[in-house]
Amino acid sequence: MIENRIYNFSAGPAVLPEDVLVRVRDNLVNYKGCGLGVAEMSHRGKEFTQIIEGAEASLKRLLSLSDDYAIIFTTGGATNQFSMVPMNLMAGKTADYINTGSWSKKAIAEAKKFGEVRVAASSQEESFSYIPTDVDVSSDAAYLHFTSNNTIFGTQFSSEPDAGSVALVCDASSDFLHKPLDVSKYGLIYAGAQKNLGPAGVTIAIIRKDLLDRIPENLPIMLDYRTYVENNSLYNTPPTFPIYVVREVLSWLEAQGGLAEIEKRNRRKAGMLYDAIDASDFYRGTARKDSRSVMNVTFRLTDEALEPSFLEKAAAAGFSGLKGHRSVGGVRASIYNAFPEQGISELIKFMREFESSHG
Ligand SMILES: Cc1ncc(COP(=O)(O)O)c(C=O)c1O
Repeated sequence: MIENRIYNFSAGPAVLPEDVLVRVRDNLVNYKGCGLGVAEMSHRGKEFTQIIEGAEASLKRLLSLSDDYAIIFTTGGATNQFSMVPMNLMAGKTADYINTGSWSKKAIAEAKKFGEVRVAASSQEESFSYIPTDVDVSSDAAYLHFTSNNTIFGTQFSSEPDAGSVALVCDASSDFLHKPLDVSKYGLIYAGAQKNLGPAGVTIAIIRKDLLDRIPENLPIMLDYRTYVENNSLYNTPPTFPIYVVREVLSWLEAQGGLAEIEKRNRRKAGMLYDAIDASDFYRGTARKDSRSVMNVTFRLTDEALEPSFLEKAAAAGFSGLKGHRSVGGVRASIYNAFPEQGISELIKFMREFESSHG
């Protein structure tokens, strides 16, 4: 194990599994004894071909993905997908969006540059503290876009919104692979790697192949999904090192027992923390209980004036990254797949001690 690790509650880039870090460290210097580091090799060579194909195969196994779907590795973060989705998939129609927070709003703003957008549901009037269930999808929409987990507000869809026959498009950046997923419900799902999948620098998208038919001609080459699908994400130099780390994280997920086991752990970890918050009047969760995220636990101290001191003492005690997003304040514990359960127990202990010395 690695010495002097602190508990990393960062919302992203976020904690990676220790086993993965150790393997990455060794292979960064000398990849499997071949005499070259993994970041120094050609993306067209045998070793990298095995890495990218291995990552795809692993993801396919984890999701039981059918051949109707293509996996692509791209760059520009999830933010670039906010543009690519409408550019590629709007096809002259109106697109429906569910507005559940800052990231949804950014996706909507981007889509408006390419066509007409309808907001099919929103929780803005309640400061994005819940997930709307009443979704008004128009049957002739190009697609319905939603953000499965709202990293900033700590809310999460417990199941997919019903899009009927309309293609469902999902920004799953902050909860991808946290539980088993029935991809057959989706037209396209995308996620930046830096929360549950690896380091920043690569974004994964899974696209149903029939949607490629509606892509307009003459899109810029790197903004056209077909470029990635037709060239196995190797049209140009892909982010080789992040893809390699993703490949290691996917192997780690499989070795843990796959997504059903990871979901069990995630539910247990989040349950422990929410129980601790609910057990005391000193703390209060900010998301409505039925909409709580198992990835980003957002809460406040009832006496908000104590928050700076809470965060300062937490940092001194070895809990990093607990400050809420700058737009909402408060406390946010991001507890992605790789976050260890021990860290939750330690945080709860710290919260109790802080309460007894200030309550
Ligand atoms: C849900 C969600 N969508 C999109 C983004 C933006 O991702 P990126 O910085 O990779 O563009 C984030 C980043 O935190 C996010 O949490």
